[in-house]
Amino acid sequence: MRFPAITLLAATPLAFAGHIKHGPTSQAFASSSDGVYKLSEYSAPVKGTGSPGSNSTWSLSIDDTASGHKQTVKGFGAAVTDATVAVFNALPAAQRAALLSQLMTSAGANFALLRHTIASSDLSADPSYSYDDNGGNVDTSLSSFNLGDRGNAMASMLADMKALQPELTILGSPWSPPGWMKLNGVIQGTTVNNNLNHAYASQYGEYFVKYLQAYQAKGVNIDAITIQNEPLNSNAGFPTMYVYADESGNLIQQNVGPALRAAGLDTAIWAYDHNTDVPSYPQTVLNEASQYVNTVAWHCYASNNNWGVLTDFHNNNTNVEQYMTECWTSSSYTPWYQAADFTMGPLQNWGNGVMAWTLGTDNSDGPHLSGSGPCDSCRGLVTVDTSAGTYTFQVDYYMMAQFSKFIPRGAVVLSGTGSYSYSSSSGLESVATLNPDGSRTVVIENKFANNVYVTLTTKSGETWSGLVYANSVTTWLLPAAGAA
Ligand SMILES: *[C@@H]1O[C@H](CO)[C@@H](O)[C@H](O)[C@H]1NC(C)=O
Ligand SMILES: *[C@@H]1O[C@H](CO)[C@@H](O)[C@H](O)[C@H]1NC(C)=O
Repeated sequence: MRFPAITLLAATPLAFAGHIKHGPTSQAFASSSDGVYKLSEYSAPVKGTGSPGSNSTWSLSIDDTASGHKQTVKGFGAAVTDATVAVFNALPAAQRAALLSQLMTSAGANFALLRHTIASSDLSADPSYSYDDNGGNVDTSLSSFNLGDRGNAMASMLADMKALQPELTILGSPWSPPGWMKLNGVIQGTTVNNNLNHAYASQYGEYFVKYLQAYQAKGVNIDAITIQNEPLNSNAGFPTMYVYADESGNLIQQNVGPALRAAGLDTAIWAYDHNTDVPSYPQTVLNEASQYVNTVAWHCYASNNNWGVLTDFHNNNTNVEQYMTECWTSSSYTPWYQAADFTMGPLQNWGNGVMAWTLGTDNSDGPHLSGSGPCDSCRGLVTVDTSAGTYTFQVDYYMMAQFSKFIPRGAVVLSGTGSYSYSSSSGLESVATLNPDGSRTVVIENKFANNVYVTLTTKSGETWSGLVYANSVTTWLLPAAGAA
């Protein structure tokens, strides 16, 4: 924690006032830590070197020609937890509809990538559960499988979101399988023998099939799964399970992958779903289960978190896609630029998409499981006052939307230079994309407490310049090269 986070005042559902224009004009939109700008139109960059006056200056460059093309963007979004579903469903119908529309359409953040929790996570109300608890008794035939009230509510929420965002990609991740499938027999409560009982390895594979089919029956196609959230995190205080790297590769290769395919499911399986400090883990999974896995999921919680690991990983595995699938935002422990940092870093390092933890909570960072272990200070991008029936977009929402609203799915990230952060965390970072319509998006994260006059040169031969507001993320929309 470096700075107290800024809590923004309640935004109206139509906080976004500007309109993205089409044609050969440039535009800028900004969101700032002081809340003055919230996806607001800001002074557009001009062609040439402009008029910096006595502002601080900064230079960026991008390669917007074919030699600069990097990865393709698949989307941005956040985690839909049981907490998210419960608090969104506590809104009056009109408020709920307005919120989902802001999140899932171009009227707002245009999120197109969501991760949902397969049964309980720590951001579920008590008690924790799976989709086949069977009173703790072994259920070899999985005949007690059922989504339950919370699973049904989750599937309905995802269906409503998908209806608003037809290009939505959904990832599902379990925090634990049913307790009876584990050596310790419990979904949570002990780290002793907190591992899969391989006597039930085939049931473990079938559990994913039943889950995917149950969601399909509710109208929700799940595009990808990870087999275990944070497989190196064993914690007694909430559902977890420890899975070794070679164990994970084997389970996918021998059980989960074949079970999905035998059921006619083309759901992708993403490796790992944990921190950047153990890249040998996903490498092992890819090596053992390459028939089923070509994507790696990363979290941000390593004490030496380094998004450069994704570039190293890409260089070792050039055809593998990578996603930042979890990083938290908090009212007390993360700075205003937390979401910008965890979106910018992966994008600069071959990441295809980014998902925040978590989409929605109530005003007390919940509901979450009780006891020690569950995150009790994870604040959603959106918070809901469940008694008043109102919602508030937090600063983290705006910082993510500065990317998601302006970088369409299918955009290609461009190589660039000029990003730099000091150890004090001040600095200026940038990422640019070439969009399917030929236009270009440049996202600039200014972590200086002063305005900075930025000059961008493009390999296609243009220069663009403009002011970037203090402590803000400012997004430039540039027309196609040569069009202006
Ligand atoms: C900073 O740049 C802007 C945009 O060109 C200009 O309007 C403003 O006067 C400059 N500020 C200073 C202090 O020179
Ligand atoms: C890339 O491969 C090299 C050589 O095998 C290895 O030392 C390095 O750790 C790998 N990097 C990542 C991020 O996996």
